[in-house]
Amino acid sequence: MEHLMAIILAAGEGKRMKSKNSKVAHKICGKSLIEWVYDAVSGAGIDETILVVGHRADQVKECMGGRVKYAVQNLQLGTGHAVMQAEEYLRGKEGYVFVLYGDTPLITAETISGCIDLHKKNGNAVTVVTADFDDPTGYGRIVRDEYGNVVKIVEERDASDEEKRIKEINSGLYCFTIRPLLESLKKLTNDNEQGEFYITDTIRILINEGFKAGAMKLENPAEILGINDRVQLYQASELIRKRILEKHMKSGVTIIDPASTYIDEGVKIGIDTVVYPGTIIEGSTVIGEDCIIGPNSRLVDAKVGNGTEINSSVILNSTIGNDVRVGPFAYIRPESVIGNNVKIGDFVEIKKSVVGDKTKIPHLAYIGDAEIGKNTNIACGVITVNYDGKKKSKTIIGNNSFVGCNVNLIAPVEVKDNSYIAAGSTITEEVPEYALAIARERQVIKENWVIKRGMERK
Ligand code: UD1
Ligand code: MG
Repeated sequence: MEHLMAIILAAGEGKRMKSKNSKVAHKICGKSLIEWVYDAVSGAGIDETILVVGHRADQVKECMGGRVKYAVQNLQLGTGHAVMQAEEYLRGKEGYVFVLYGDTPLITAETISGCIDLHKKNGNAVTVVTADFDDPTGYGRIVRDEYGNVVKIVEERDASDEEKRIKEINSGLYCFTIRPLLESLKKLTNDNEQGEFYITDTIRILINEGFKAGAMKLENPAEILGINDRVQLYQASELIRKRILEKHMKSGVTIIDPASTYIDEGVKIGIDTVVYPGTIIEGSTVIGEDCIIGPNSRLVDAKVGNGTEINSSVILNSTIGNDVRVGPFAYIRPESVIGNNVKIGDFVEIKKSVVGDKTKIPHLAYIGDAEIGKNTNIACGVITVNYDGKKKSKTIIGNNSFVGCNVNLIAPVEVKDNSYIAAGSTITEEVPEYALAIARERQVIKENWVIKRGMERK
Protein backbone atom coordinates (compact mmCIF):
# COMPACT_ATOMS: atom_id res chain seq x y z
CA MET A 1 0.00 0.00 0.00
CA GLU A 2 1.25 3.46 -0.90
CA HIS A 3 1.21 5.84 2.06
CA LEU A 4 0.98 9.62 1.98
CA MET A 5 2.11 10.97 5.33
CA ALA A 6 3.36 14.20 6.87
CA ILE A 7 5.85 15.00 9.59
CA ILE A 8 5.53 18.42 11.19
CA LEU A 9 8.45 19.57 13.33
CA ALA A 10 7.49 21.55 16.39
CA ALA A 11 9.93 20.56 19.12
CA GLY A 12 12.08 23.67 19.05
CA GLU A 13 12.05 26.27 21.76
CA GLY A 14 11.49 29.30 19.57
CA LYS A 15 13.83 31.43 21.67
CA ARG A 16 13.35 34.50 19.50
CA MET A 17 9.65 34.70 20.47
CA LYS A 18 10.74 35.56 24.07
CA SER A 19 7.72 33.70 25.38
CA LYS A 20 6.85 31.26 28.15
CA ASN A 21 4.66 29.47 25.64
CA SER A 22 5.42 27.17 22.77
CA LYS A 23 6.08 29.10 19.57
CA VAL A 24 3.59 27.06 17.57
CA ALA A 25 0.82 27.60 20.15
CA HIS A 26 0.80 31.34 19.39
CA LYS A 27 -2.34 32.28 17.51
CA ILE A 28 -3.16 34.04 14.27
CA CYS A 29 -6.82 34.97 13.74
CA GLY A 30 -7.92 32.61 16.50
CA LYS A 31 -6.00 29.55 15.32
CA SER A 32 -2.61 28.37 16.60
CA LEU A 33 0.33 28.32 14.19
CA ILE A 34 0.46 24.54 14.35
CA GLU A 35 -3.23 24.28 13.43
CA TRP A 36 -2.71 26.53 10.41
CA VAL A 37 0.05 24.22 9.22
CA TYR A 38 -1.95 21.10 10.03
CA ASP A 39 -5.03 22.37 8.18
CA ALA A 40 -2.95 22.99 5.05
CA VAL A 41 -1.55 19.46 5.33
CA SER A 42 -4.94 17.85 5.74
CA GLY A 43 -6.36 20.12 3.01
CA ALA A 44 -3.79 18.53 0.72
CA GLY A 45 -5.38 15.15 1.40
CA ILE A 46 -2.77 13.86 3.86
CA ASP A 47 -4.54 12.01 6.63
CA GLU A 48 -1.64 10.55 8.58
CA THR A 49 0.41 13.22 10.31
CA ILE A 50 3.15 12.83 12.87
CA LEU A 51 3.91 15.83 15.00
CA VAL A 52 7.36 15.98 16.57
CA VAL A 53 7.07 17.70 19.95
CA GLY A 54 9.60 18.54 22.64
CA HIS A 55 9.71 21.96 24.20
CA ARG A 56 6.30 22.65 25.86
CA ALA A 57 4.92 19.44 24.36
CA ASP A 58 1.93 19.75 26.70
CA GLN A 59 0.80 22.97 25.04
CA VAL A 60 1.34 21.70 21.51
CA LYS A 61 -0.67 18.57 22.33
CA GLU A 62 -3.43 20.73 23.77
CA CYS A 63 -3.66 22.59 20.44
CA MET A 64 -3.80 19.45 18.32
CA GLY A 65 -5.42 16.77 20.48
CA GLY A 66 -6.03 13.44 18.77
CA ARG A 67 -5.82 14.72 15.20
CA VAL A 68 -2.16 13.66 14.85
CA LYS A 69 0.24 11.03 16.13
CA TYR A 70 3.07 12.26 18.31
CA ALA A 71 6.81 11.64 18.34
CA VAL A 72 8.88 13.12 21.14
CA GLN A 73 12.25 14.79 20.70
CA ASN A 74 13.61 15.29 24.19
CA LEU A 75 16.81 17.06 23.17
CA GLN A 76 16.61 19.45 20.26
CA LEU A 77 19.59 18.24 18.26
CA GLY A 78 18.42 19.64 14.92
CA THR A 79 15.74 19.27 12.26
CA GLY A 80 17.23 15.99 10.95
CA HIS A 81 17.30 14.58 14.47
CA ALA A 82 13.67 15.65 14.88
CA VAL A 83 12.67 13.67 11.78
CA MET A 84 14.58 10.64 13.14
CA GLN A 85 12.22 10.65 16.15
CA ALA A 86 9.33 9.89 13.79
CA GLU A 87 11.17 6.98 12.11
CA GLU A 88 9.15 4.28 13.84
CA TYR A 89 6.03 5.48 12.02
CA LEU A 90 7.77 5.27 8.63
CA ARG A 91 9.60 1.99 8.93
CA GLY A 92 8.46 -0.72 6.52
CA LYS A 93 6.16 1.66 4.64
CA GLU A 94 6.10 2.50 0.94
CA GLY A 95 5.06 5.90 -0.34
CA TYR A 96 5.71 9.53 0.42
CA VAL A 97 6.17 11.74 3.43
CA PHE A 98 5.88 15.51 3.39
CA VAL A 99 8.16 17.13 5.97
CA LEU A 100 7.53 20.69 7.12
CA TYR A 101 7.95 23.00 10.09
CA GLY A 102 5.27 24.07 12.54
CA ASP A 103 6.22 27.73 12.24
CA THR A 104 5.14 28.40 8.61
CA PRO A 105 1.41 29.11 8.99
CA LEU A 106 0.85 30.70 5.57
CA ILE A 107 1.56 27.56 3.64
CA THR A 108 -1.38 26.45 1.48
CA ALA A 109 -2.78 23.04 0.65
CA GLU A 110 -2.26 23.83 -3.06
CA THR A 111 1.50 24.27 -2.58
CA ILE A 112 1.79 21.02 -0.65
CA SER A 113 -0.22 19.11 -3.28
CA GLY A 114 1.75 20.78 -6.08
CA CYS A 115 5.04 19.68 -4.56
CA ILE A 116 3.84 16.10 -4.08
CA ASP A 117 2.59 15.91 -7.69
CA LEU A 118 5.87 17.27 -9.06
CA HIS A 119 7.82 14.87 -6.84
CA LYS A 120 5.91 11.86 -8.16
CA LYS A 121 6.00 13.02 -11.77
CA ASN A 122 9.78 13.47 -11.76
CA GLY A 123 10.51 10.32 -9.79
CA ASN A 124 12.50 12.24 -7.19
CA ALA A 125 13.66 10.93 -3.84
CA VAL A 126 13.36 14.44 -2.43
CA THR A 127 11.70 17.62 -3.70
CA VAL A 128 12.25 20.84 -1.81
CA VAL A 129 10.06 23.94 -2.01
CA THR A 130 12.13 27.07 -2.65
CA ALA A 131 11.69 30.77 -3.36
CA ASP A 132 13.81 33.74 -4.37
CA PHE A 133 14.13 36.22 -1.51
CA ASP A 134 15.53 39.73 -1.98
CA ASP A 135 16.92 39.39 1.50
CA PRO A 136 17.77 35.72 2.09
CA THR A 137 19.48 36.39 5.44
CA GLY A 138 18.98 33.63 7.97
CA TYR A 139 17.67 31.01 5.53
CA GLY A 140 19.36 27.96 4.10
CA ARG A 141 20.51 28.51 0.48
CA ILE A 142 19.80 26.25 -2.49
CA VAL A 143 23.06 25.41 -4.26
CA ARG A 144 22.65 24.37 -7.91
CA ASP A 145 25.21 23.10 -10.44
CA GLU A 146 25.92 24.64 -13.83
CA TYR A 147 22.92 22.79 -15.33
CA GLY A 148 20.57 24.21 -12.71
CA ASN A 149 20.22 20.94 -10.81
CA VAL A 150 19.95 21.14 -7.02
CA VAL A 151 23.16 19.89 -5.44
CA LYS A 152 22.73 20.67 -1.76
CA ILE A 153 21.32 23.07 0.81
CA VAL A 154 23.75 25.05 2.88
CA GLU A 155 22.77 26.83 6.10
CA GLU A 156 23.75 30.46 6.31
CA ARG A 157 26.15 29.84 9.20
CA ASP A 158 27.99 27.21 7.15
CA ALA A 159 27.86 29.06 3.83
CA SER A 160 30.83 30.48 1.95
CA ASP A 161 30.68 34.14 0.93
CA GLU A 162 29.73 33.09 -2.56
CA GLU A 163 26.93 30.82 -1.28
CA LYS A 164 25.62 33.61 0.91
CA ARG A 165 24.96 35.63 -2.24
CA ILE A 166 22.46 33.01 -3.47
CA LYS A 167 18.92 34.42 -3.34
CA GLU A 168 17.11 31.09 -3.63
CA ILE A 169 16.24 29.87 -0.15
CA ASN A 170 15.03 26.69 1.46
CA SER A 171 11.44 27.06 2.63
CA GLY A 172 11.69 24.07 4.93
CA LEU A 173 9.03 22.10 3.04
CA TYR A 174 10.08 18.82 1.50
CA CYS A 175 8.46 15.83 -0.13
CA PHE A 176 10.43 12.61 0.42
CA THR A 177 9.99 9.10 -0.85
CA ILE A 178 9.87 7.14 2.40
CA ARG A 179 12.48 4.48 1.75
CA PRO A 180 15.37 6.66 0.57
CA LEU A 181 14.59 9.14 3.37
CA LEU A 182 15.07 6.42 5.98
CA GLU A 183 18.37 5.41 4.32
CA SER A 184 19.64 8.98 4.28
CA LEU A 185 18.73 9.65 7.93
CA LYS A 186 21.21 6.93 8.92
CA LYS A 187 23.98 8.86 7.22
CA LEU A 188 23.32 12.29 8.77
CA THR A 189 26.15 13.78 10.78
CA ASN A 190 26.37 16.86 12.94
CA ASP A 191 29.68 18.27 11.72
CA ASN A 192 28.45 21.80 11.11
CA GLU A 193 28.72 25.10 12.87
CA GLN A 194 25.75 24.38 15.20
CA GLY A 195 26.67 20.73 15.87
CA GLU A 196 23.14 19.73 14.82
CA PHE A 197 21.70 17.03 12.57
CA TYR A 198 20.20 18.92 9.64
CA ILE A 199 17.36 17.49 7.55
CA THR A 200 18.71 19.65 4.74
CA ASP A 201 21.80 17.41 4.48
CA THR A 202 19.65 14.51 3.26
CA ILE A 203 19.58 16.19 -0.17
CA ARG A 204 23.35 15.98 -0.65
CA ILE A 205 23.37 12.43 0.76
CA LEU A 206 20.58 11.25 -1.55
CA ILE A 207 22.26 12.74 -4.63
CA ASN A 208 25.54 11.00 -3.68
CA GLU A 209 23.63 7.72 -3.47
CA GLY A 210 22.38 8.24 -7.03
CA PHE A 211 18.85 9.41 -6.20
CA LYS A 212 17.10 12.33 -7.86
CA ALA A 213 16.57 15.59 -5.98
CA GLY A 214 14.39 18.39 -7.31
CA ALA A 215 13.01 21.76 -6.36
CA MET A 216 9.71 23.56 -6.76
CA LYS A 217 10.18 27.30 -6.83
CA LEU A 218 7.22 29.32 -5.52
CA GLU A 219 5.74 32.33 -7.28
CA ASN A 220 4.45 33.75 -4.01
CA PRO A 221 7.25 33.62 -1.43
CA ALA A 222 5.02 35.15 1.29
CA GLU A 223 3.55 31.67 1.76
CA ILE A 224 6.69 30.35 3.34
CA LEU A 225 7.30 33.14 5.80
CA GLY A 226 8.66 31.42 8.91
CA ILE A 227 7.64 32.79 12.30
CA ASN A 228 10.68 33.20 14.49
CA ASP A 229 9.79 36.39 16.41
CA ARG A 230 6.77 38.56 17.15
CA VAL A 231 7.41 40.91 14.27
CA GLN A 232 7.08 37.98 11.88
CA LEU A 233 4.02 36.82 13.84
CA TYR A 234 2.47 40.21 13.13
CA GLN A 235 3.49 40.12 9.45
CA ALA A 236 1.92 36.70 8.99
CA SER A 237 -1.21 37.81 10.90
CA GLU A 238 -1.65 40.73 8.55
CA LEU A 239 -1.47 38.47 5.51
CA ILE A 240 -3.91 35.94 6.93
CA ARG A 241 -6.26 38.68 8.18
CA LYS A 242 -6.36 40.14 4.69
CA ARG A 243 -7.11 36.72 3.22
CA ILE A 244 -10.06 36.28 5.62
CA LEU A 245 -11.48 39.79 5.09
CA GLU A 246 -11.29 39.46 1.32
CA LYS A 247 -13.05 36.10 1.48
CA HIS A 248 -15.98 37.72 3.37
CA MET A 249 -16.10 40.72 1.04
CA LYS A 250 -16.15 38.44 -1.99
CA SER A 251 -19.03 36.51 -0.48
CA GLY A 252 -21.21 39.56 0.06
CA VAL A 253 -20.21 41.25 3.31
CA THR A 254 -19.41 44.98 3.31
CA ILE A 255 -16.37 45.78 5.44
CA ILE A 256 -16.10 49.54 5.73
CA ASP A 257 -12.52 49.63 6.97
CA PRO A 258 -10.53 46.41 6.63
CA ALA A 259 -7.56 48.06 8.35
CA SER A 260 -9.44 48.17 11.65
CA THR A 261 -11.47 44.96 11.34
CA TYR A 262 -10.35 41.63 12.80
CA ILE A 263 -12.22 38.46 11.94
CA ASP A 264 -11.15 35.02 13.10
CA GLU A 265 -10.81 32.10 10.76
CA GLY A 266 -14.06 30.12 10.78
CA VAL A 267 -16.43 33.04 11.50
CA LYS A 268 -19.52 33.01 9.25
CA ILE A 269 -21.29 36.20 8.09
CA GLY A 270 -24.41 36.44 5.91
CA ILE A 271 -24.78 38.58 2.80
CA ASP A 272 -25.50 42.32 2.97
CA THR A 273 -24.24 42.56 6.51
CA VAL A 274 -22.11 45.65 7.03
CA VAL A 275 -19.15 45.60 9.41
CA TYR A 276 -18.17 49.02 10.72
CA PRO A 277 -14.66 50.03 11.82
CA GLY A 278 -13.06 48.87 15.04
CA THR A 279 -14.83 45.53 15.11
CA ILE A 280 -13.39 42.21 16.27
CA ILE A 281 -15.31 39.03 15.50
CA GLU A 282 -13.87 35.95 17.12
CA GLY A 283 -14.18 32.22 17.71
CA SER A 284 -17.18 30.36 16.34
CA THR A 285 -19.30 33.47 15.76
CA VAL A 286 -22.06 33.18 13.17
CA ILE A 287 -23.83 36.35 11.97
CA GLY A 288 -26.91 36.44 9.74
CA GLU A 289 -27.83 38.63 6.77
CA ASP A 290 -28.55 42.38 6.71
CA CYS A 291 -26.92 43.08 10.07
CA ILE A 292 -24.92 46.12 11.07
CA ILE A 293 -22.03 45.11 13.27
CA GLY A 294 -19.97 47.85 14.90
CA PRO A 295 -18.46 50.31 15.06
CA ASN A 296 -16.21 49.28 17.94
CA SER A 297 -17.76 45.98 18.86
CA ARG A 298 -16.37 42.64 19.96
CA LEU A 299 -18.22 39.39 19.38
CA VAL A 300 -16.82 36.12 20.69
CA ASP A 301 -18.58 32.80 19.99
CA ALA A 302 -21.81 34.70 19.32
CA LYS A 303 -24.81 33.70 17.21
CA VAL A 304 -26.61 36.65 15.66
CA GLY A 305 -29.79 36.42 13.55
CA ASN A 306 -30.77 38.55 10.54
CA GLY A 307 -31.30 42.30 10.50
CA THR A 308 -29.70 42.89 13.88
CA GLU A 309 -27.58 45.90 14.83
CA ILE A 310 -24.78 45.76 17.33
CA ASN A 311 -23.25 49.12 18.07
CA SER A 312 -20.17 49.64 20.29
CA SER A 313 -20.93 46.55 22.36
CA VAL A 314 -19.38 43.33 23.60
CA ILE A 315 -21.10 39.98 23.13
CA LEU A 316 -19.65 36.81 24.59
CA ASN A 317 -20.89 33.30 23.89
CA SER A 318 -24.53 34.31 23.53
CA THR A 319 -27.37 34.08 21.02
CA ILE A 320 -29.08 37.18 19.64
CA GLY A 321 -32.24 36.91 17.52
CA ASN A 322 -33.46 38.74 14.42
CA ASP A 323 -34.01 42.51 14.21
CA VAL A 324 -32.48 43.17 17.62
CA ARG A 325 -30.89 46.51 18.54
CA VAL A 326 -27.90 46.22 20.86
CA GLY A 327 -25.99 49.18 22.27
CA PRO A 328 -24.34 51.51 22.19
CA PHE A 329 -22.26 50.29 25.12
CA ALA A 330 -24.06 47.08 26.01
CA TYR A 331 -22.31 44.07 27.52
CA ILE A 332 -23.89 40.69 26.88
CA ARG A 333 -22.11 38.02 28.87
CA PRO A 334 -21.97 34.25 28.33
CA GLU A 335 -25.01 32.01 28.05
CA SER A 336 -27.51 34.73 27.30
CA VAL A 337 -30.29 34.18 24.80
CA ILE A 338 -31.93 37.27 23.34
CA GLY A 339 -35.12 36.79 21.28
CA ASN A 340 -36.32 38.64 18.17
CA ASN A 341 -37.14 42.36 17.94
CA VAL A 342 -35.55 43.03 21.30
CA LYS A 343 -33.86 46.29 22.32
CA ILE A 344 -30.85 46.11 24.60
CA GLY A 345 -29.84 49.75 24.97
CA ASP A 346 -26.99 51.79 26.34
CA PHE A 347 -25.13 50.70 29.47
CA VAL A 348 -27.09 47.49 29.85
CA GLU A 349 -25.35 44.37 31.13
CA ILE A 350 -26.97 41.01 30.57
CA LYS A 351 -25.52 37.88 32.13
CA LYS A 352 -26.73 34.30 31.68
CA SER A 353 -30.27 35.45 31.03
CA VAL A 354 -33.07 34.80 28.59
CA VAL A 355 -34.89 37.81 27.11
CA GLY A 356 -38.12 37.16 25.18
CA ASP A 357 -39.23 38.63 21.84
CA LYS A 358 -40.14 42.36 21.67
CA THR A 359 -38.89 43.04 25.18
CA LYS A 360 -37.11 46.33 25.74
CA ILE A 361 -34.27 47.06 28.14
CA PRO A 362 -33.36 50.48 26.78
CA HIS A 363 -30.88 51.84 29.32
CA LEU A 364 -28.75 51.44 32.44
CA ALA A 365 -29.78 48.03 33.72
CA TYR A 366 -28.18 44.89 35.13
CA ILE A 367 -29.95 41.67 34.24
CA GLY A 368 -28.24 38.57 35.65
CA ASP A 369 -29.52 34.99 36.03
CA ALA A 370 -32.93 36.12 34.82
CA GLU A 371 -35.69 34.90 32.55
CA ILE A 372 -37.70 37.69 31.01
CA GLY A 373 -40.78 36.98 28.90
CA LYS A 374 -42.07 38.65 25.75
CA ASN A 375 -43.10 42.24 25.21
CA THR A 376 -41.98 43.35 28.64
CA ASN A 377 -40.48 46.74 29.43
CA ILE A 378 -37.52 46.96 31.76
CA ALA A 379 -37.07 50.65 32.49
CA CYS A 380 -33.98 52.65 33.26
CA GLY A 381 -31.89 51.54 36.23
CA VAL A 382 -33.49 48.15 36.90
CA ILE A 383 -31.28 45.72 38.76
CA THR A 384 -31.73 42.02 39.30
CA VAL A 385 -30.12 41.50 42.68
CA ASN A 386 -28.90 38.01 41.94
CA TYR A 387 -26.11 37.60 44.48
CA ASP A 388 -26.52 37.62 48.24
CA GLY A 389 -22.81 37.31 48.94
CA LYS A 390 -22.94 33.52 48.94
CA LYS A 391 -25.10 32.24 46.13
CA LYS A 392 -26.63 33.35 42.84
CA SER A 393 -30.44 33.28 42.51
CA LYS A 394 -32.89 33.61 39.68
CA THR A 395 -35.31 36.35 38.73
CA ILE A 396 -38.30 35.43 36.59
CA ILE A 397 -40.31 38.14 34.85
CA GLY A 398 -43.34 37.25 32.74
CA ASN A 399 -44.81 38.54 29.47
CA ASN A 400 -46.33 42.00 28.91
CA SER A 401 -45.08 43.33 32.23
CA PHE A 402 -43.66 46.72 33.11
CA VAL A 403 -40.79 47.10 35.55
CA GLY A 404 -40.41 50.79 36.43
CA CYS A 405 -37.26 52.84 36.79
CA ASN A 406 -34.73 52.01 39.48
CA VAL A 407 -36.43 48.83 40.61
CA ASN A 408 -34.40 46.28 42.56
CA LEU A 409 -35.57 42.70 42.11
CA ILE A 410 -34.19 40.74 45.05
CA ALA A 411 -33.74 37.19 43.75
CA PRO A 412 -35.09 34.60 43.97
CA VAL A 413 -38.25 36.38 42.97
CA GLU A 414 -40.96 36.14 40.33
CA VAL A 415 -42.91 38.84 38.53
CA LYS A 416 -45.94 37.36 36.81
CA ASP A 417 -47.38 38.26 33.38
CA ASN A 418 -49.25 41.53 32.79
CA SER A 419 -48.08 43.20 36.00
CA TYR A 420 -46.58 46.59 36.81
CA ILE A 421 -43.92 47.56 39.33
CA ALA A 422 -43.75 51.19 40.46
CA ALA A 423 -40.51 53.08 40.00
CA GLY A 424 -38.06 52.90 42.88
CA SER A 425 -39.48 49.68 44.31
CA THR A 426 -37.40 47.01 45.97
CA ILE A 427 -39.26 43.80 45.19
CA THR A 428 -38.73 40.86 47.53
CA GLU A 429 -41.97 38.94 47.00
CA GLU A 430 -43.87 37.58 44.03
CA VAL A 431 -45.84 40.11 41.99
CA PRO A 432 -49.16 38.53 40.91
CA GLU A 433 -50.64 38.77 37.43
CA TYR A 434 -52.45 42.07 36.66
CA ALA A 435 -51.18 43.60 39.94
CA LEU A 436 -49.29 46.82 40.58
CA ALA A 437 -46.50 46.38 43.12
CA ILE A 438 -45.24 49.39 45.04
CA ALA A 439 -42.46 48.75 47.49
CA ARG A 440 -41.04 52.06 48.69
CA GLU A 441 -41.50 54.66 51.42
CA ARG A 442 -44.31 57.12 50.86
CA GLN A 443 -43.16 60.67 50.30
CA VAL A 444 -43.36 62.93 53.37
CA ILE A 445 -43.65 66.75 53.07
CA LYS A 446 -42.62 68.89 56.04
CA GLU A 447 -43.97 72.39 55.30
CA ASN A 448 -41.53 75.29 55.88
CA TRP A 449 -38.95 72.90 57.32
CA VAL A 450 -36.10 74.90 55.75
CA ILE A 451 -37.13 78.18 57.38
CA LYS A 452 -37.89 76.58 60.76
CA ARG A 453 -34.48 74.94 60.81
CA GLY A 454 -32.67 78.03 59.51
CA MET A 455 -31.31 75.98 56.63
CA GLU A 456 -31.60 78.58 53.83
CA ARG A 457 -28.56 78.46 51.59
CA LYS A 458 -28.40 82.13 50.64
C1 UD1 B 1 15.37 25.95 8.89
C2 UD1 B 1 16.21 25.29 7.79
C3 UD1 B 1 16.62 26.36 6.78
C4 UD1 B 1 15.37 26.99 6.20
C5 UD1 B 1 14.47 27.55 7.32
C6 UD1 B 1 13.14 27.96 6.74
C7 UD1 B 1 17.46 23.41 8.76
C8 UD1 B 1 18.77 22.94 9.26
N1 UD1 B 1 17.40 24.67 8.36
O1 UD1 B 1 16.16 26.89 9.61
O2 UD1 B 1 17.37 25.76 5.73
O3 UD1 B 1 15.74 28.03 5.31
O4 UD1 B 1 14.22 26.56 8.33
O5 UD1 B 1 12.29 28.54 7.70
O6 UD1 B 1 16.51 22.64 8.71
N2 UD1 B 1 12.89 21.83 15.29
C9 UD1 B 1 12.69 20.69 16.00
N3 UD1 B 1 13.77 20.09 16.61
C10 UD1 B 1 15.01 20.61 16.51
C11 UD1 B 1 15.20 21.79 15.78
C12 UD1 B 1 14.12 22.38 15.17
O7 UD1 B 1 11.57 20.20 16.09
O8 UD1 B 1 15.91 19.99 17.09
C13 UD1 B 1 11.74 22.47 14.63
C14 UD1 B 1 11.41 23.83 15.19
O9 UD1 B 1 10.45 23.74 16.23
C15 UD1 B 1 10.84 24.58 13.98
C16 UD1 B 1 11.53 23.91 12.80
O10 UD1 B 1 12.04 22.68 13.27
O11 UD1 B 1 9.46 24.41 13.85
C17 UD1 B 1 12.63 24.75 12.19
O12 UD1 B 1 13.59 25.07 13.17
P1 UD1 B 1 14.28 26.49 13.21
O13 UD1 B 1 15.23 26.50 14.34
O14 UD1 B 1 13.27 27.57 13.13
O15 UD1 B 1 15.15 26.41 11.85
P2 UD1 B 1 15.70 27.63 11.00
O16 UD1 B 1 16.92 28.14 11.62
O17 UD1 B 1 14.59 28.58 10.76
MG1 MG C 1 12.55 28.87 11.59
